[in-house]
Amino acid sequence: MGRVYNFSAGPAVLPEEVLKEAAEEMLDYNGTGMSVMEMSHRSKAYETIIKEAEQDLRDLMNIPDNYKVLFLQGGASQQFAMIPMNLMKNKVADFIITGQWAKKAYQEAQIYGKANAIASSADKTFSYIPDCSELPISEDADYVYICENNTIYGTKFKQLPNTKGKTLVADVSSCFLSEPVDVSKYGVIYGGVQKNVGPAGVVIVIIREDLITEDTLPGTPTMLKYKIHAENESLYNTPPAYGIYICGKVFKWLKKLGGLSAMKELNEKKAAILYDFLDQSKLFKGTVVKEDRSLMNVPFITGNDEIDAKFIKEAKAAGFENLKGHRSVGGMRASIYNAMPIKGVEKLVEFMKKFEEENTK
Ligand SMILES: Cc1ncc(COP(=O)(O)O)c(C=O)c1O
Repeated sequence: MGRVYNFSAGPAVLPEEVLKEAAEEMLDYNGTGMSVMEMSHRSKAYETIIKEAEQDLRDLMNIPDNYKVLFLQGGASQQFAMIPMNLMKNKVADFIITGQWAKKAYQEAQIYGKANAIASSADKTFSYIPDCSELPISEDADYVYICENNTIYGTKFKQLPNTKGKTLVADVSSCFLSEPVDVSKYGVIYGGVQKNVGPAGVVIVIIREDLITEDTLPGTPTMLKYKIHAENESLYNTPPAYGIYICGKVFKWLKKLGGLSAMKELNEKKAAILYDFLDQSKLFKGTVVKEDRSLMNVPFITGNDEIDAKFIKEAKAAGFENLKGHRSVGGMRASIYNAMPIKGVEKLVEFMKKFEEENTK
């Protein structure tokens, strides 16, 4: 069997070119006679890999010099705790609740201090992004937290919230490197890489230097201090070495394709193929308000659970994998990350058209 079109929300499709290169280098990386998997993280060869990965990411995102780039473990979920442990000096933080991942971060922060939900879109099943131009930001908030792209519900902040000068912390797990960002607007940008950047096991944290301090909450484990990882350039302990190597390859692939502006253009084009179809379909319907639609995760329904299940089954048989919506919401979801070729989306829409014809008689 050849490769399928994989619409998984994560771990997700990676560029074929990157996978092929990694395969070629599997037994002998660059004349070292060993795989990157077998290599000391303190070796010269690995030092080059991690340094280049960081530099390529800095180039792609135009990361200012006063920000550190950390390659960590524990997934995005560990950051739900690590962020308050390191940043909650006043023990207050404000959260915008736009879905399950924001809610989980909010709930975790409650362990460490006062977490306030200052806006939410729970009233309409998280199908929109609340107006964040005039929020009741807490006077003593250490930061304002958002989940910038909501993987499960398919919404994206098109405009960052007005934090009234407070530090913005953003989970970008499912929109990482999908378009250009102005890093200077954030205190912390972080994401698990297993959606748009690489294999599961690596979380990248981009953090402004003044937020990295000795002054963490009492009891913060050494491994959960940003300072330790920053001082040791992500090599305090054994990092997720192979995963970082693959991320590095994806960074080079993105640079070759023209960087994040080119990616944005391509992602807009790709998403439009699907959204335009959904907007005129008699069977399928998108679930998100137009202005807040994600370019990465596209949820849709037919309104009939049986037809949804039939669609998912027939799509799978036709080589379109992982179109089932998140287990908490049902329906369908097509995740169309950077590495999903435009042809994959075109073929999916072709298949949906055919299914619609057969099922609306
Ligand atoms: C936006 C977002 N944040 C956090 C997570 C949790 O990530 P992890 O499984 O790496 O902890 C996910 C998905 O799995 C996600 O989509």
